[in-house]
Amino acid sequence: LVEGYKKTYKNFDEVLPTLLPRKGWWLDQLFQYQGFWLSTFALRGSMLINDHFNTQPTDIIVATSPKCGTTWLRALVFSIFNRSSFDFSDHPLSKSNPQELVRFLEGCIHVEGSTSFIDGFPSPRLLSTHLPYSLFPQRMTDDTSGCRFVYICRDPKDVFISKWHFANKLRPKDLPPITLDEAFDSFCKGVSHYGPFWDHVLGYWKASLESPKKVLFLKYEDVKKQPWDRVRKVAEFLGVPFSLEEENNKIVEEIVKLCSFENMSKQEVNKNETRNSERPISNADFFRKGEVGDWVNHLPPQMVETLDQITEKKLQGTGFNF
Ligand code: A3P
Repeated sequence: LVEGYKKTYKNFDEVLPTLLPRKGWWLDQLFQYQGFWLSTFALRGSMLINDHFNTQPTDIIVATSPKCGTTWLRALVFSIFNRSSFDFSDHPLSKSNPQELVRFLEGCIHVEGSTSFIDGFPSPRLLSTHLPYSLFPQRMTDDTSGCRFVYICRDPKDVFISKWHFANKLRPKDLPPITLDEAFDSFCKGVSHYGPFWDHVLGYWKASLESPKKVLFLKYEDVKKQPWDRVRKVAEFLGVPFSLEEENNKIVEEIVKLCSFENMSKQEVNKNETRNSERPISNADFFRKGEVGDWVNHLPPQMVETLDQITEKKLQGTGFNF
């Protein structure tokens, strides 16, 4: 560990016992930090970013609350940005899961006990995060800093169902599955990784209104309905709009097809179900149904009503709607 990191770790050790703990959805505990529920890994990551991350004006950060379409958006941003570098018939996305191509910022910041790993990425760096906007340091959220965030949100009912399935895949085999009731209770109270879900969404929503050049706000449902439109929008936001020639060559359509659930979930690399103590999540765990509205198959009417009521209350006066 470099000296600076040691200081942050010490700070972490001091802060942790002062935070309210709650049981997580699988093994780890969650701690309430500045209004959000974080694992110790995410909390330490956030502190390290805050103290040490050397932001560059060209950084592009794919930001999501878990289960809102991180995998999809990583793939889209990667293929939009690198569209001239690769052939669609032999593309890195056919060989690698998107998490290997757009690396997790709060994970990478830990590597080598210093920033040297992440400083070594060629720019522009494509990174990904689950951290709420309010936890990023001002030097990253300042209008003048240059680094940009692309955010995607999703209907809370679909997020909840996706999360519940995911948690049960991750839970150690000697633990019983987390019941729908138990998970629902936690989700509604905001106690889920990087939750409360609504506060996460609203943080980025407000930032996108205040700084539209810094934060692009997307909805999973819109990308499903009009993927071509959204791909063009992301390209424009990133400063790499499609040329007439690219439009004529149907590059937008190629990107949409490449990143579709149907195409990605059938790639060998994404069918890999290997999990171990080091990597408790397999590539296959990130592909379930990839549909809008699957909640109808799982949520009883009472839960739908409760969740809708919470959403309505949380969004009141914000001008935002799912
Ligand atoms: P479901 O569980 O509803 O199927 P994340 O990538 O943020 O972890 O989110 C995972 C969710 O996105 C899962 O939702 C998964 O199936 C879906 N997903 C993964 N790849 C996708 C793609 N290319 N297009 C649309 N949805 C995708």
